[in-house]
Amino acid sequence: MALDIRPLHDALGAEVRGLDLTRPLSDETLDQLNAAFVRYHLLCLRSAPLTAQDFAALARNFGEPQEQLHSNRHHPDVPEVSVLESTYDCAADKPDDLASVRLSGWHTDDSYFAVPAKATMLQILVAPDAGGETLFCNTASAYDDLDAAQRHRLDSLQAVHRFDTPRAKGLAEALVGDDEITPDVTHPLARRLEETGRKAIYFNPNRTDHVVGMARKQSDALLDQLHKHMTRARYRYDHRWQLGDVLLWDNRCLIHAVNTDYPVGQKRLHQRILLRGERPV
Ligand code: SIN
Repeated sequence: MALDIRPLHDALGAEVRGLDLTRPLSDETLDQLNAAFVRYHLLCLRSAPLTAQDFAALARNFGEPQEQLHSNRHHPDVPEVSVLESTYDCAADKPDDLASVRLSGWHTDDSYFAVPAKATMLQILVAPDAGGETLFCNTASAYDDLDAAQRHRLDSLQAVHRFDTPRAKGLAEALVGDDEITPDVTHPLARRLEETGRKAIYFNPNRTDHVVGMARKQSDALLDQLHKHMTRARYRYDHRWQLGDVLLWDNRCLIHAVNTDYPVGQKRLHQRILLRGERPV
């Protein structure tokens, strides 16, 4: 039976209705979901909040969960699940300059690893009354729209990704316990999607420090230009969360950020799993 899959936006994303995510998914359903993932890059599975156990079981249908940095966020019983709270507990927690909140910065998860996560699965467990949308941009479409000379140039470039870079407006979260800052890694500035061969700009504004072989000024100019291009409105979809929504998105060709303007004292809570990927080429 065909699933009820509806595009969310011209730029990316599709909504899937009518699945009971607490029950095993059939092979036929999974084939349709995987095909929709490749086509739309982001799936929104409408659901009620899941237990961490059910959430992890759901994620394993789509890949292998990978260990996440920030061990203090690991769920005590299901460590592959991270519990992410982004509540402003008091007025002092919410800065006037929201761009300085780390989550406001565009990013792709995990690019500071040599083998970054292919996909992120994120479910909202408690939502604020207003704001707090998660915003996405499609960097495969942004790559497609470059002219041939620009694509050729990007194809030849590599960039260094760091746990933290002064280019990011918000500071990286402090690590605790035994967590260690990851060593710098180098990734191509345009990467290929394994299933289709399509290419996407692979630039993480929160973590990409510089382009290999370029002076800082020249590198910053190129990265600033790419940032402006890939965050244009035509590539962007803003997700307004409904309680229990599960988003599964492709980190290889989407960047995301959060509208961090939501009320002080209202909880914003998610659970997240990252799914193992391949080394970007
Ligand atoms: C994240 O960027 O990892 C979390 C996104 C969100 O809080 O909406």
